[in-house]
Amino acid sequence: MDRMISSLLPEALLVGQPEVDAQHEEIFVRIESLKALCVDSDALPLARFDDLLALFAEHFATEERIARAAGLEFSQHARTHRANLQVIARALAEVRQGVRDVHSFLRYVEFWFERHIVQDDQPFAASLRSLAMNGEAPPPEAGGAG
Ligand SMILES: [Fe+2]
Repeated sequence: MDRMISSLLPEALLVGQPEVDAQHEEIFVRIESLKALCVDSDALPLARFDDLLALFAEHFATEERIARAAGLEFSQHARTHRANLQVIARALAEVRQGVRDVHSFLRYVEFWFERHIVQDDQPFAASLRSLAMNGEAPPPEAGGAG
């Protein structure tokens, strides 16, 4: 099953930060499973969509925590997270009201997320790596030391 999950995160979308990559993968898996659910069932699994939003919020909080721990300036990136969480929540409300098609919602979320990874998360991970290499901050996942 892991193999199937991995195939959802192409190499071009890896950021090279294990915790972040794992969460990205989990989000893509969740989007795929929602697509399948919406094709297979007439009833919209709205609670599952709320779970997806919660997963996004949790993921954004993870990136913000990693940036804070590394002492990295993250305000613009965090603003992007907040703004997009609002847009996604609004789009989901439109799905609930029946004015937006659920498949269009999922396509939008997936497109936005892929673009965010390339435009914001990959540069973020590169900054983390260069901080770690210059010895200006501990590597973000340097666990293990007592
Ligand atoms: Fe991000």
